[in-house]
Amino acid sequence: MPVAAPTIGDLRRDAQRRLPRLAFDFVDGGADDEVTLRDNVAAFDRVRLAPRVLRDVARRDQTLELFGRELSLPVLIAPTGMARVAGRGGDVAGVRAAGRAGTAFTLSTMSNDALEAVAPHTTAPLWLQLYLWPRREVVTGLLDRARRAGVHALMVTVDVPVIGRRVRDVRNGFTVPLALRPRVAADVLRHPRWLRSMYPPPTFGNLVAEGVRTPGEALAHAELVTQLLAHPAATWADLRWVREQWEGPLLIKGVLTAADADEAIACGVDGIVVSNHGGRQLDGVPATLDALPAVVEAAAGRAEVLLDGGVRRGTDVVKALALGARAVLVGRPWLYGLAAGGEDGVVHALELLRSEVDRALALLGCTSLAGLDAAVLHHAVGGAAERPGAGAAW
Ligand SMILES: Cc1cc2nc3c(=O)[nH]c(=O)nc-3n(C[C@H](O)[C@H](O)[C@H](O)COP(=O)(O)O)c2cc1C
Repeated sequence: MPVAAPTIGDLRRDAQRRLPRLAFDFVDGGADDEVTLRDNVAAFDRVRLAPRVLRDVARRDQTLELFGRELSLPVLIAPTGMARVAGRGGDVAGVRAAGRAGTAFTLSTMSNDALEAVAPHTTAPLWLQLYLWPRREVVTGLLDRARRAGVHALMVTVDVPVIGRRVRDVRNGFTVPLALRPRVAADVLRHPRWLRSMYPPPTFGNLVAEGVRTPGEALAHAELVTQLLAHPAATWADLRWVREQWEGPLLIKGVLTAADADEAIACGVDGIVVSNHGGRQLDGVPATLDALPAVVEAAAGRAEVLLDGGVRRGTDVVKALALGARAVLVGRPWLYGLAAGGEDGVVHALELLRSEVDRALALLGCTSLAGLDAAVLHHAVGGAAERPGAGAAW
């Protein structure tokens, strides 16, 4: 499906037009007052760039090597559960698009398509996101499946001891499976293509072994699913245990402080994703860009640092890399692309970001990602970029 949106913002508006409100809000919304959701985006706007001129930027390269595999751009796909709500192709469309763009796709544990259904479509690194579950046999079972499916890296999400309250979902009565209130039903009926795309109803492909395959079963096993998603008693010992089970690259996702970065590195992680779950968990935490410098400093080269949250422009990617991230991940942008145009829409989202990164490199006077450091940030007196560990109180 041809997609013409000139920016991720336009892609978001396309998605909004194509999806019923409850589906769009599930993707687009955040926790509570959505302060952190908005700040993730706004933080990028507070940072200014310092271009250098006359530096021969005729040839530019944004490839990078991450955990031994080459990626064609420093933007990866973040794990998002229930992707079918955004579009028919769901996770399979996402992994195919990531392959076409030459970047990694992270499959959520709570994906609709099973690992085994997604893996054959992979032509770039496939990563798997995992929650720290109380029942360890569930984890070891999934890790066995991950090995068989050729998963390259494991990403353990740690910012869901309980599930955040997404107020838009509460207002819309968004439940899985869909139980339509009259007000919502009218809106859904105005989107017959979306309604058709929800049949057959989405499943939780990775939880088959747990007897929770369909959202209907999930509702019947609500307590179990909550246990699978949120494990309030999890500790660093659980992460250390996962490290013992998984021989490949291991990342922790959901770190915002230097202290937690230190703990994670002591557990043997290879990578840290600075993330606030896209503003869907604790509202009022800092934007990820503001949290990034302290984590980069704490990691001190001992682990790769990645960032997600609010990346909507190539210049956002450049700013995150200049502040020390090796790469970024995008959550909502891939789902907007999926809603707007299926697999082609996801490719379009990634290609928009690629072309924006390329243009930003040229205009900054850089020919590769290695050139992106503090020197490309504008240090105005009293400006955001001047603050030591941007976002810190001063
Ligand atoms: C609809 C949706 C579902 C998500 N599901 C998961 C999930 O299952 N596991 C996870 O670790 N993060 C999940 N996330 C968070 C993303 O991985 C990522 O941290 C966030 O979307 C980044 O912010 P961005 O959307 O502004 O790019 C989800 C995000 C969205 C929008």
